[in-house]
Amino acid sequence: MERKNRFLRPSFLKIDLDRLAQNVRLLKKRLGREVGLMAVVKADGYGHGALPVAKAALVAGANFLGVALVEEGIVLRKTGIDVPISVLYPDFPERAEFFVRHDLIPTVIDEKFARAYVRASKKLRRKRIPFAVKIETGLNRYGVSAEEAVRLTQSLLRHRGALLWELSSHLATASEEDIEFARLQVQRLKDARALFEKAGIYPRYTSLANSGAVLDLPEGYFNLVRVGVLLFGYPSRTAAGGSLPAKPVMFLESRIAQLKTIGPGETVGYGREFGASSERLIATLPLGFSDGYPRHLGNKGWVLVRGKRAPVVGRIAMDAIMVDVTEVPRVRAGDRVVLMGEMGAEKITAEDLAGWIGTSPYEIITRMGVRLPIEYTGKMARKLGFA
Ligand SMILES: Cc1ncc(COP(=O)(O)O)c(C=O)c1O
Repeated sequence: MERKNRFLRPSFLKIDLDRLAQNVRLLKKRLGREVGLMAVVKADGYGHGALPVAKAALVAGANFLGVALVEEGIVLRKTGIDVPISVLYPDFPERAEFFVRHDLIPTVIDEKFARAYVRASKKLRRKRIPFAVKIETGLNRYGVSAEEAVRLTQSLLRHRGALLWELSSHLATASEEDIEFARLQVQRLKDARALFEKAGIYPRYTSLANSGAVLDLPEGYFNLVRVGVLLFGYPSRTAAGGSLPAKPVMFLESRIAQLKTIGPGETVGYGREFGASSERLIATLPLGFSDGYPRHLGNKGWVLVRGKRAPVVGRIAMDAIMVDVTEVPRVRAGDRVVLMGEMGAEKITAEDLAGWIGTSPYEIITRMGVRLPIEYTGKMARKLGFA
């Protein structure tokens, strides 16, 4: 991509909001009319920028938003977003008032928080007191038994305006090859919902599936799915074989800041962990692990220069990455380098980066936005005023 301003930092993230919108449309088509789509935009939109991502996802057809922290919800509300926003993780009672003040739906798992939330709602004279209750179905992270959830809900519903917006649970093995345990979790949530119905309580939404389950487990859709990573194009395919032609939205680019030739026996970088066995041409790139490029990719990663793959050599430093470009014809200082993205016929995805060092694409994409500037591209970005 030609950049409009050549004075901008040469290392940057490019986020294609048209691709994001297209991923949302593909998702909506897969889900059909009966199933709502909550776009999960926590962790600053998985590193893509929560606000542009939220706005683009809503324009493309997402129904609701989900975040992890009340703070993340407040930021979105302050920009004027008015769709229901769920905070997917429980919080502490002393923070309940923030939910009320900013119209954010809390995930409730204990009486203390429930009481504080109702108290704050009454103090601020709110007519509606919406809440989600989380059922433990096997992840053993957050959530309570179905019986406890019914009791908790009953005590909340005693207050005028209280509304069980969502009965939710979260999967332990979405995206994994064996989906039997996920099926068991679906059944447990169905049993929990039956218990609620027996008590005369009908949640507006029931929700279990995340990205992996959208691909592999249609029986787990209920009437709302909570999708994060698939908005951003991952996974391209699950271990169980599910897929959707969603495309990556995030690209990482830089430029060669210096080129130098080193002789046999010389080494590159801290700790001298790369040794040249013959004369090598080494390119230095102006970014490092403080930009979110994983330090573990030292001597393991690859980048694209002039349409060719070139290996990362030596340790990744805080602000520099070295690459062996000996095999790249006509390479020059200033050349564009793609660390994640496409160039000619070659492609490097967050799944590739994750695979080289044994982590997940979630970790790769969520860390990139810490210091790198983000440039938004596409018609959607222009329409929303981000480009
Ligand atoms: C409770 C909850 N629901 C949904 C999601 C979205 O998951 P995914 O990014 O796999 O779609 C997450 C993310 O981790 C989550 O914590």
